Amino acid sequence: MRFFNTYLVTKIFDKIAFRYDVLNRILSFGQDLAWRNTLSKKLGKNNKVIVDIGTGTADQIVLNHKYCKNSLLIGVDRSRNMLSIGKKKTNKLGANLINGDALRLPLKNKSVDIVTISFGIRNFIDIDKALLEVSRVLKQNGKVIILEFSIPENSFIKNIYLFYLRNIVPFIGSIISRNKDAYEYLNKSIEKFPYGKEFCKIMKDIGFKKINFEKLSFGVAMIYEGEKN
Ligand SMILES: C[S@@+](CC[C@H](N)C(=O)[O-])C[C@H]1O[C@@H](n2cnc3c(N)ncnc32)[C@H](O)[C@@H]1O
Repeated sequence: MRFFNTYLVTKIFDKIAFRYDVLNRILSFGQDLAWRNTLSKKLGKNNKVIVDIGTGTADQIVLNHKYCKNSLLIGVDRSRNMLSIGKKKTNKLGANLINGDALRLPLKNKSVDIVTISFGIRNFIDIDKALLEVSRVLKQNGKVIILEFSIPENSFIKNIYLFYLRNIVPFIGSIISRNKDAYEYLNKSIEKFPYGKEFCKIMKDIGFKKINFEKLSFGVAMIYEGEKN
C-alpha cells in the first residue's frame, strides 16, 4: 500500500467532498445511514457534550441530534471541504464544526461526555494516538462509540465482499468522484484495519473499560463501545 500520511488523507477528502455523500449512499446500498442510526441509538440520555471526530459531512451529527436534542454537538475534521458541506446540514441544529486534527484535538481535558467516530478511525493513521486523544478529552466514565468497516468472517460472504471492495468500489468511486486514488485508498484502508477482537485489544491497551462490539450487516461494519477508566 502506498504510504499515506495525514496530509495526503486530508487532500483526498478535500477532493472528493462534493461527491462523498452520494457515493456513500450508492456504494453501501443506503446502509450507511442505518449503521449510523444504530450508533446514535446507543448514545443514551443526559449527555452534555457529544463530539464527533472525523465528522466529515456531518451525517453522524445529524443523527446524534435526533436522539440528543439538548446536547452540545461538536464535530472535528481536518478537511475544510467536507466540513463546508457538514455546516450546511448542521447550521440549524446549533452544532459547532471545527477544523482540527484527531491526533491533537482542540478540546480541553475531561470536557466531553461522549465521543463518536464513524468511518474515521481507520483514516487517522495513528490509531493509538487518536484513541489516547479521545481518552484525554473524555470525562471519567465518558463513552466512545466507533463505527468502522470490517471484513465478514463467513468465507462465502467474505469472498463476495472482497470482490466488491477491490473491483466494484474503485470502479464506481472513480467514475463518480473522478478520483481513482481515493476509492483505491478506501478498499486498502479497510483491508488493513484491525477489526473485531483485535481492535478491542487496542482499546483495552489504551485503557478503556467495558469494551464490546456489535457486527452489522454480516460483519461488513462493526460498532465498538468503551468507557474511559
Ligand atoms: C470516511 S470519512 C468519514 C466522515 C464521516 N464521519 C462519515 O461518517 O461519513 C473520514 C473523515 O475523517 C477525516 N480525517 C482523516 N484524518 C483526520 C485527522 N487526522 N483528524 C481529523 N479528521 C480526519 C477526513 O477528512 C474525513 O472527513
